[in-house]
Amino acid sequence: MTIQSLLKQASKQLATLSDSPQLDAELLLGHCLNKERSYLYAWGEKQVNASIQQTFKQLIEKRLTDYPVAYLLGHKEFWSLDLIVTEDVLIPRPETELLVEIALEKIQHLTAPKVLDLGTGTGAIALAIAREKPNALITASDYSKKALVIAQKNAHRNSIHTVNFILSDWFATIEREKFDLILSNPPYIKSDDPHLQQEIRYEPLQALAAGETGLDDINTLLGSALDYMKADAWIIIEHGYDQGIIVPKLMEKVGLQQTACIQDYHENDRLSIGRK
Ligand SMILES: C[S@@+](CC[C@H](N)C(=O)[O-])C[C@H]1O[C@@H](n2cnc3c(N)ncnc32)[C@H](O)[C@@H]1O
Repeated sequence: MTIQSLLKQASKQLATLSDSPQLDAELLLGHCLNKERSYLYAWGEKQVNASIQQTFKQLIEKRLTDYPVAYLLGHKEFWSLDLIVTEDVLIPRPETELLVEIALEKIQHLTAPKVLDLGTGTGAIALAIAREKPNALITASDYSKKALVIAQKNAHRNSIHTVNFILSDWFATIEREKFDLILSNPPYIKSDDPHLQQEIRYEPLQALAAGETGLDDINTLLGSALDYMKADAWIIIEHGYDQGIIVPKLMEKVGLQQTACIQDYHENDRLSIGRK
């Protein structure tokens, strides 16, 4: 079969479950051929050998079980970074780039801000801040050893050497040095949310679920955050679309000021900010 016919067949199969069947098929075939997508357009009539066809077929079959494209490819773009992803880490979402944008605004006037990224996963947030703000002193933590290994590999892969990675259950082993900015995209999904059994079931549960209300981790973080913040420091927490009223209230309850919820580009409540 040719490149074109393989893509046509695969995207038709994937249309039953994916919002982007053609793109998925192109990314997966490009991966099998070790070529960019532009190659597939230029060489659509080229025959694909049987063993590559077989590998591609296996990937499509796996994708048809809802298995994420990023895990099949083994990497994912975030900000200007190419990040390794495995089943040990949450796949970074484009929505989280909003958190990076707001974070950069909050530290733009500081030459060497101290920044803490709690629950770093792939390192996405910490590494994006480091890329844009090379003088920032960044600490990134996770309680998953496996996630930290990936995050450190991602720092190396993207030639970033300014992030200090720490194994920590939230603030447990973070030094009480005062930070200018605390960031977190913590687990925030209710433990009985049916999505946990559906398309996100391949991602680590401990990166997603946060008790009956989905607020367990946000409450834990907010319970200690002020002790780690300088005067005037900001905290930014990503949360669910339905948590935009409660999270600013929880922030006020612990004494944070200037709280607000910010919506993403789809006009969903996406993150909340507060200042010490
Ligand atoms: C939603 S994921 C976010 C990952 C990454 N920051 C991102 O935005 O793509 C939440 C992360 O928090 C970590 N985590 C969950 N519970 C934690 C805890 N008690 N202490 C530290 N990290 C935790 C998970 O391992 C996971 O990497």
